[in-house]
Amino acid sequence: MIREPINLATVLAQFDDLWSPRIVARVNDYDVRVAKVTGEHVWHAHAHTDEFFLVIDGELYIALRDETVDASRNERVVVLSRGALFVVPAGVEHRPFAPTGASILMLEPAGTSTVGDRHDPIPGHIDVSTGHAFT
Ligand code: NI
Repeated sequence: MIREPINLATVLAQFDDLWSPRIVARVNDYDVRVAKVTGEHVWHAHAHTDEFFLVIDGELYIALRDETVDASRNERVVVLSRGALFVVPAGVEHRPFAPTGASILMLEPAGTSTVGDRHDPIPGHIDVSTGHAFT
């Protein structure tokens, strides 16, 4: 339970780890997480939950394999500038990346792994946790 306001700029100033979300609040059964990202995440999918992204700073790209382009699920990329939000639907394979870096806010059920339920081999720079408490 949050009893005092939390400033996201203050939170972001207190860690430098990449692709390693900090949990800043809980809303019912959902965690509100913030992360700093640069470079590439890994292709993965969350079978049972949508995933909400909001770009606080920088620019986030999300590659998607959904059925928007055609029925064969060819890859497409959405570009999220500062202030943009996007929801990756449950079950859709996605790969976030940020060539020049970004700070992002995510909303998803507590316990959701950053690499989902199925994923490509995980590079060493990816944190596979379900988020770290921010204190
Ligand atoms: Ni994801």
